[in-house]
Amino acid sequence: MTAPENFEIFTVKVEPAGLQYDVEGDLTLLEAAELSRIELPSSCRNGTCRTCVCRLVSGEVTYTIEWPGLSAEEKAEGYVLPCVARPTTNVVLEQTQARAT
Ligand code: FES
Repeated sequence: MTAPENFEIFTVKVEPAGLQYDVEGDLTLLEAAELSRIELPSSCRNGTCRTCVCRLVSGEVTYTIEWPGLSAEEKAEGYVLPCVARPTTNVVLEQTQARAT
C-alpha cells in the first residue's frame, strides 16, 4: 500500500519528560499524542479554554480553526494550543504536565 503524495509524518518531542510521538495525516498534536498513549492537559478540545496551552520550542504549526484562543503576543512568544494545532514540521513542545499512560 502506498501513502498519498501529500501524506506526511512529523515527529513531536515533549520536554522536559523526553516523550516522543508521531503525527500522521491531519491529526492535531493532542489527538496524535493520545493515540500514542501520551497524556497532555486538555478540556474543551476546540481551542477556547486554554487548558492545553504550552510552548512550542521549535517547529511550525497551523491551526484547524481561524481564531485559536491565543493573543498575538502569546503566539509571538511561541505558545500553542495542541488541541487545534497540526504540525507542518517536526516540533518540540514544552509541557511539564505531559506523561505516558
Ligand atoms: S483543550 Fe481547550 S484550548 Fe485546547
